[in-house]
Amino acid sequence: MRKQIAAANWKMNLTYQQGEKLLDDILDTKIKLASHQLTIFAVPYPYLLLTRSEVEEGTNYFPAAQNCHHKKSGAYTGEISVEMLHSLNIKYCVVGHSERRDYNGETNSMLADKVNLCFENFITPIFCCGEPLHIREAGSQNDFVATQLRESLFHLEPQVIKNIIIAYEPIWAIGTGKTASTEQAQEIHKYLRSVLAKQYGEAVADEIPILYGGSVKANNAKELFSCPDVDGGLVGGASLVAADFIEIIKALKK
Ligand code: 13P
Repeated sequence: MRKQIAAANWKMNLTYQQGEKLLDDILDTKIKLASHQLTIFAVPYPYLLLTRSEVEEGTNYFPAAQNCHHKKSGAYTGEISVEMLHSLNIKYCVVGHSERRDYNGETNSMLADKVNLCFENFITPIFCCGEPLHIREAGSQNDFVATQLRESLFHLEPQVIKNIIIAYEPIWAIGTGKTASTEQAQEIHKYLRSVLAKQYGEAVADEIPILYGGSVKANNAKELFSCPDVDGGLVGGASLVAADFIEIIKALKK
């Protein structure tokens, strides 16, 4: 059964103490997840060990890094390698968030290197794709996201890519309060799955969770997650409020 995932992306928010309290408030509710359901917290690097120790071993709650460097190691002051994340027993890493593509000049080819390093280090990439507003207005979103997948992922073997998580995050919906409608989300998620199926076959495409990101809130998560090709969410703002993220976790399909 395909995984369903509620993933928090804290971005560059919260002090250590605020983060600890937020995790406590969410984890104290002990929401029971089915075996195919996961909750992932993509937290700032300095909070990874805290998050790892807060989530209980053997549960379906996991910490994730928000980024990694595209080189294996070396003279890259201030950067964090995938090998370092692996040495902390981190199992998930967000790769190619639109904010990093925009503000840090990350290209599809750099992201291909990051994805490779993640898989070599037993870390599941949460690979982000999504179009800016002008592309959506021109109606070219399908070609845009297909190119992102092709240039960063399609060198992977089927037995490798089937373990990836994809997050579709339309840039015009991130942090704007403007959510894609359920029809828009379902349409492009279905399209992304068809692109994966064309390259790798239906069986592989059917295994890959495709999360929606962009102003997911407590009051729209259930409707979005009910779309057949939406397998959960990657959540920014609403993941910083315990009561809201708790509702989002609960919105995963039964
Ligand atoms: P918001 O939920 O704040 O729109 O952010 C979405 C996002 O970028 C998650 O990675």
